Amino acid sequence: MGLFRKKSQPIPYHGDLKTPLLSFGRDVFRLDDAVRGVLVTGGTGSGKTSGSARALAMAYLKAGMGGVVMCAKSDEAENWRAYAKAAGREADIIEINEQAERRFNFLDYAQATLGQTFEGNLLSVIDTITEAATASSGQGDGENRFFRDNAREMVSHVLPLLIAVYGRLTVRDIVAFIDSAPTSQAMVADETWQAESFAARTIAAASLLMDSDPDLEIHGEYWLTRFADWSDKTRSSVVSTFTSTVYPFLTGKLRDLFCTHTNVLPEMSHSGAIILLNLPVKKFGAMGEVSQKIFKFLWQVATEARQPEGTKRRPKPLRPVFIFADECQFFTTERDDEFFSTARSARACGVYLTQDLPSFYSRLTKGGEHGADALIGKFQTRIMHGNVDKTTNAAAAEMIGQITKQQASQQQNINRNLGEGGAYQPHDVAQSDNSGKGMGVSTTLSTYRDYAIPPDYFTNQLRNGTKANRYKVDAIIVTAGRTWKHSRANFIKAAFDQRL
Ligand SMILES: Nc1ncnc2c1ncn2[C@@H]1O[C@H](COP(=O)(O)OP(=O)(O)OP(=O)(O)O)[C@@H](O)[C@H]1O
Ligand SMILES: [Mg+2]
Repeated sequence: MGLFRKKSQPIPYHGDLKTPLLSFGRDVFRLDDAVRGVLVTGGTGSGKTSGSARALAMAYLKAGMGGVVMCAKSDEAENWRAYAKAAGREADIIEINEQAERRFNFLDYAQATLGQTFEGNLLSVIDTITEAATASSGQGDGENRFFRDNAREMVSHVLPLLIAVYGRLTVRDIVAFIDSAPTSQAMVADETWQAESFAARTIAAASLLMDSDPDLEIHGEYWLTRFADWSDKTRSSVVSTFTSTVYPFLTGKLRDLFCTHTNVLPEMSHSGAIILLNLPVKKFGAMGEVSQKIFKFLWQVATEARQPEGTKRRPKPLRPVFIFADECQFFTTERDDEFFSTARSARACGVYLTQDLPSFYSRLTKGGEHGADALIGKFQTRIMHGNVDKTTNAAAAEMIGQITKQQASQQQNINRNLGEGGAYQPHDVAQSDNSGKGMGVSTTLSTYRDYAIPPDYFTNQLRNGTKANRYKVDAIIVTAGRTWKHSRANFIKAAFDQRL
């Protein structure tokens, strides 16, 4: 596709929800499944990346999707370059990396595109920053809430002042304002502070505009009273955690990448671009996490807002787009819940991977496990690889549910296991066959309820690839509301090949 495709030629894609993407024997995973989200779990080395995620990535690329790839590990971008090459989509890769050839000024972008929803959404960007800061700080939920609510309030009073006075927002100005804001009433009254401080000069300039925008008075008052009167301890903890998270955006590569000009837009993925956010968390730490979360947030907003092309009578189906997040616990945000609730109509296909539920819970700040469970519930397809984590395995067994199994005495086990379906006895019954024919052997059958897939099945019955397993990776797949043809049950055991 790359060499001979003219730049202006659109990348073909499949937009029909019935489009088959993957098949498992007689069962087909279609675009309609993809837009309802996939969550992949499995212990380290169980084959998530090289098995199911790779198969999904290849299928999505071959269907012409664009999308965004979150990078937790350093080899993620390399994997995707290989997938794109194998799918003939190499030319569509756009990489945001430390070379900073591709740049994205997120405040300019937000201001230019969010229109009426700008302030609310921009605050959500700021929330993303503070959320990431608190997620990596290990603070408890109560402390987090307190810090974030106050940081949000603080920033909500600086943005309108800066926009009104300067017409443009920069990270430098936000930080300069907060750093020079008054920390006591004595300072508010101090003439030197009034003359020299950036905050004081901004508030003074804003006061001249109050006739046309009376709200500016409320914002100015906040700094001169509430903020100035805070206890030093509270103020410094709120301010320092916020500013220390955004300081890195003021210098070096992060400034080049996110605070200069813009030559990559989230919307490019809507035309088929595969945007790799190659600032891996394992290498760049919290800043890799924060900057990817900011891009992701704005991508989600842009993706929800897009409208079908074509005429009103004959709209062209939207190009499906994906968001892939391996080690997704680094990238989940409160916004995900809302995004994935409407992802189907936005034709957005989420694929999130995590090792186990405790890792997933550990990084979500709001609502703890409850919030995490609500988010997990948004992914209608669950792909579960081998795992030794008890919580994850117990939850998987519980989700798949119980069936009636049969057991014969004399240890003749005739269990119908692995959900092969069939006519199970509806009641617990003990039957005897005393017909006296033949050798006169009597067999006692008893039936009992048990998990269709017991928790320990995940610890020792699923292959994890490598040569020893002939490159096969197994997983149990469950899709909400679906009975699989192959198993006649609500789950299927699928094998993925690591060598596509
Ligand atoms: N193409 C391949 N051919 C053969 N073996 C592979 C291939 N890719 C990965 N492996 C091996 O297969 C196993 C599963 O690897 P994979 O990276 O997919 O696991 P994972 O579940 O993603 O693990 P993690 O949580 O650590 O990312 C590992 O032992 C890995 O070394
Ligand atoms: Mg992996």
